[in-house]
Amino acid sequence: MSDRAAAELEQSIRAALQAVPLPDGTALGQSDRLAGFSLNGGSLTTTIRITPEEAATFAPIRAAAEAALGQMSSVTRAMVVLTAERGAPPDLRAPSKPDAKPAAKPPVLPDVRHVIAVASGKGGVGKSTTTVNLALGLRALGLKVGILDADIYGPSLPTLLALHGKPRVDANRQLLPSEAHGIKAMSIGLLVDEETAMIWRGPMVMSAITQMLAEVNWGALDVLLIDMPPGTGDAQLAIAQGAPLRGAIIVSTPQDLALIDARRGITMFRKVDVPILGMVENMAHFICTDCGARHDIFGSGGAEAEAARLGVPYLGAVPLTMELRAASDRGRPVVAFEPDGVLGRVYQDIARNLVARLPA
Ligand SMILES: Nc1ncnc2c1ncn2[C@@H]1O[C@H](COP(=O)(O)OP(=O)(O)O)[C@@H](O)[C@H]1O
Ligand SMILES: [Mg+2]
Repeated sequence: MSDRAAAELEQSIRAALQAVPLPDGTALGQSDRLAGFSLNGGSLTTTIRITPEEAATFAPIRAAAEAALGQMSSVTRAMVVLTAERGAPPDLRAPSKPDAKPAAKPPVLPDVRHVIAVASGKGGVGKSTTTVNLALGLRALGLKVGILDADIYGPSLPTLLALHGKPRVDANRQLLPSEAHGIKAMSIGLLVDEETAMIWRGPMVMSAITQMLAEVNWGALDVLLIDMPPGTGDAQLAIAQGAPLRGAIIVSTPQDLALIDARRGITMFRKVDVPILGMVENMAHFICTDCGARHDIFGSGGAEAEAARLGVPYLGAVPLTMELRAASDRGRPVVAFEPDGVLGRVYQDIARNLVARLPA
């Protein structure tokens, strides 16, 4: 966006917020609390800076601001995020107790039977690839499945499922998820452009994720997989504390295991009392495109032994194949297009192993 377009956008947002009063009697439109203006398609995002103590006071102001911005002619969906700066990063060793949460909050994801985080210690290990194909594997078992892409800094669901266009909004101002191959899907990448998300600080990331959890109309689902951002920071904490997680799946490559990144992920979930449902070993061995031969580049059985050592169920191994990467890049997930191929069976086995670990 050019500087001029950005200035015009800020001006029109401020004008629309003139009618929203702050507790001190001034107009929100004139406040220096407003920051971060972005318009992506019809999806408008801005933030209001508050202190943590002001969160409750500003909840209705946030709602009024969203309603006012939603009236703007170029806007189909307005998202206003409250950002509370904190001195220190949140402490994972001291998760906030459930009774410390505001009492009036409606339940999050009430119609989803199992909310499951798919996580990894670091990026690039195949977390998103695993999430999408596992979701399709679960779907092939007859389950109703959704995917929430919470990877703020690298959302890949729009590519992997070839999703286009902005999410629509229902009569209750809830976002409607997109749908592909019988899977419901919502991505932060459909709401905010990547450059905007890149410069968000921790608290902004947390409240964006909290709103995505509370403001999407998933309908009834058996399983919602959350494609988590890599690592163990603010966003992970927002989900671990804000979503009713049944458990987490850890995706790791054989090298990743050796490099303890996966262990860090496991430790984080254990600290917030989220059970680890299992580990998926990705890029476990190489299948040669030309000869079809299997090469155990990192040896075999290492990951399974490591999972056992960590006390984590081993859900299965996905080979490194050209086919999987090419299909993913084209937005044609293998399990949807070749459910009975080698990879289709691999992911369906993993899906079955996962279901076996869920309460009936
Ligand atoms: N088993 C696999 N075989 C081949 N390529 C893979 C495999 N798993 C992932 N990839 C590729 O590796 C890259 C990173 O995978 P991705 O799922 O985006 O990782 P993450 O979500 O952990 O960052 C992508 O290009 C993806 O297509
Ligand atoms: Mg990813």
